[in-house]
Amino acid sequence: LPHSLPMRLPLAARAAPARAMAAAAGESPLFAPAQVGYVALAHRLVYAPLTRCRADGAGVQPPSAATYYAQRASAPGTLLISEATNIERAGQGYPNTPGLYTPAQLEAWQPVTAAVHAAGGVFFAQLWHTGRVSHPAYQPDGRPPPAPSAVPCPAAGGVTLPDFTTVPYVVPREMGREEIAAVVSQYAAAATAAIEAGFDGVEVHSANGYLLEQFLRESSNTRGDEYGGDQRWRLTADVVAAAAAAVGPDRVGVRLSPFGRFLMAPPSESDWRACDALVDRLATLGLAYLHMIEPRMTLGNEEIDVWDQSQTLDRWRARWVDAAGKPRPFISAGGFTRTRALAHLAAHPGDLIAVGRWWLSTPDLPARWAAGAPLNAYDRGTFYAGGDKGYTDYPFLGDVKEGAPTRAARDGSLVFGGGEDGAAE
Ligand code: PHB
Repeated sequence: LPHSLPMRLPLAARAAPARAMAAAAGESPLFAPAQVGYVALAHRLVYAPLTRCRADGAGVQPPSAATYYAQRASAPGTLLISEATNIERAGQGYPNTPGLYTPAQLEAWQPVTAAVHAAGGVFFAQLWHTGRVSHPAYQPDGRPPPAPSAVPCPAAGGVTLPDFTTVPYVVPREMGREEIAAVVSQYAAAATAAIEAGFDGVEVHSANGYLLEQFLRESSNTRGDEYGGDQRWRLTADVVAAAAAAVGPDRVGVRLSPFGRFLMAPPSESDWRACDALVDRLATLGLAYLHMIEPRMTLGNEEIDVWDQSQTLDRWRARWVDAAGKPRPFISAGGFTRTRALAHLAAHPGDLIAVGRWWLSTPDLPARWAAGAPLNAYDRGTFYAGGDKGYTDYPFLGDVKEGAPTRAARDGSLVFGGGEDGAAE
């Protein structure tokens, strides 16, 4: 690791408000401190990576991104993971998503990371390549997008082009060995760029149907070489190792979604064994954290959750241990409410909990959960567009207007597999 990298986070010096919040929370397990890599976090809530589509056509973030992220860092000692950020132009598959591969992109991230640090936050950049769900319109050479195999995305819907029209997914082209090596280098370069832009670390996005998960799954990877078959885990392992060599393992996290059906056919037992092999390898590297999506997720931009209560992440949580068998930092994501987060921490006291939608609409979500206060309702219409509307204009608790929409007692979850719906506060 370049241990010469400056330590930007004198968090202990900023811990007083966090202690006040912990007192207000009545020693709630949500506000137990945690150590992740080289940073001390004041509580267990992690701002989940959320695509917001506010960058310009060149992948350059607007100045308002600094306000947006700093608002969500308002509880000191919060870990935030950035929206998915393209490692190179050929990785882009959605309009107005940011990048980390041009000088202008890096420069635009600098005030954003500085604002998060000024608030006392810790900020990891999520590194993204969309693989087969990109489109020739996004490719620098106009060819079909790169993928493990020439297998198109099976999802309904399609690619949203730069002009926000939607067209069907295309048949991608199978990546050659040299191109795979080049992409590994691009991940390492993007990790270095992220640190230069002021991020504290990077999260390798190997989830949700994008390039690295396309390599992990047998439905999308029919290769006969050492990146296919029972070695489908290899590309993610190579990318993580390259990023760790570039910026240090304790500045690298990984996100996985072994139950995910977003942009993917349902997973198989063989896919779960590939995930076993991958997690076993990652556990030896001294990484910052493993971030996994529970068998609960939304399938697109809809207010419908799928929660398969017959499945759990315990199989991989058990593998995510150090040489002495001690659990390593583990972030769990998947439709958490305050009630469900508390129940989850009772069962998994070491975990961190990623929260997306409700924190998007409630910039001071940790303080609200500490106080048992209601949350702001969220507006899906501005998740992926809308400029500052639905971005920097959600109120803090003291500024909530009388009669403003707050979260309902139930969040509309559709639960499969029985049990409580987990939505009531
Ligand atoms: C999305 O833009 O819909 C999106 C992006 C990244 C994800 C999942 C969904 O991991």
